[in-house]
Amino acid sequence: MKKEKFTPHSAFDCRREKRKFSMISVYDYPTAKCAEEAGINSLLVGDSLAMTVLGHQDTISITMEEMLHHVKAVSRASQYSMVVADMPFMSYQISSQQAVENAGRFLKEGRADAVKVEGGNQMAETVNSIFSAGISVIGHIGLTPQSSGQLGGLKVQGKTVDSAKKLLNDAISLQEAGAFSILMECVPAKIASVINEKLDVPTISYGSGPSLDAQGLVGADILGLFDLFQPKFSKRYSEIGLEIKKAFRRYHDEVISQKFPYSDNQYNVPEIVLQNFLSWIKNN
Ligand code: KIV
Repeated sequence: MKKEKFTPHSAFDCRREKRKFSMISVYDYPTAKCAEEAGINSLLVGDSLAMTVLGHQDTISITMEEMLHHVKAVSRASQYSMVVADMPFMSYQISSQQAVENAGRFLKEGRADAVKVEGGNQMAETVNSIFSAGISVIGHIGLTPQSSGQLGGLKVQGKTVDSAKKLLNDAISLQEAGAFSILMECVPAKIASVINEKLDVPTISYGSGPSLDAQGLVGADILGLFDLFQPKFSKRYSEIGLEIKKAFRRYHDEVISQKFPYSDNQYNVPEIVLQNFLSWIKNN
């Protein structure tokens, strides 16, 4: 069967046919290529990049230009996976015009297939402007790290009746505004499941239980590449960080003990070239 690109339409097909799809947050060409070749349906170039790769304390500082740089790299690696660009803090909050311009840059310059914005009801107008410009947009609710200051930290959302009601209203507003998918981060599984039932669009879970249409995880968490903290909802499928450290340590030890470079790692010249060179040096 001919392999086809995963698109927002494919996400709707999955929901209709009760098939799951997968998403990973990735930020560079080699990792995106591995993800695509492993069959991951969608690659989110998340602003988690700020923390997991660029060493920031939170996601606030990352800029449009930095995000674009990484979206371009991931897009170059992706033939079949849907590439979603995460709109960074202050790239869409100021006005709908700013949001459309920046979302447009992610498609036009970054070659992304869709964008994602954080926020609920208050972002509905912005989402509608992006949608009206012909750009596929995902609404991200629940734990929205860009506003973690207001949320009181990186905390699970929807744990009270009022906050669960707000999440449901947020999801419906975003859907009505034109979001083709709702991503829920850190929402209790049973609350997320109820909200999922009330929606028509495909849903994506980052730590919001098994009932949503897609599961998403941050690539660096899956690989064991980010060890400052590990979200409860994440699972380490590998310890690449430890493997990298092991390899670097072996290299370092071989340099210090003068084992590296081996003869296989060196370039040779014919003896005659060397002798002629040495005699030229002697005579000059
Ligand atoms: O930046 C990111 O990777 C995200 C996910 C955690 C949803 O926004």
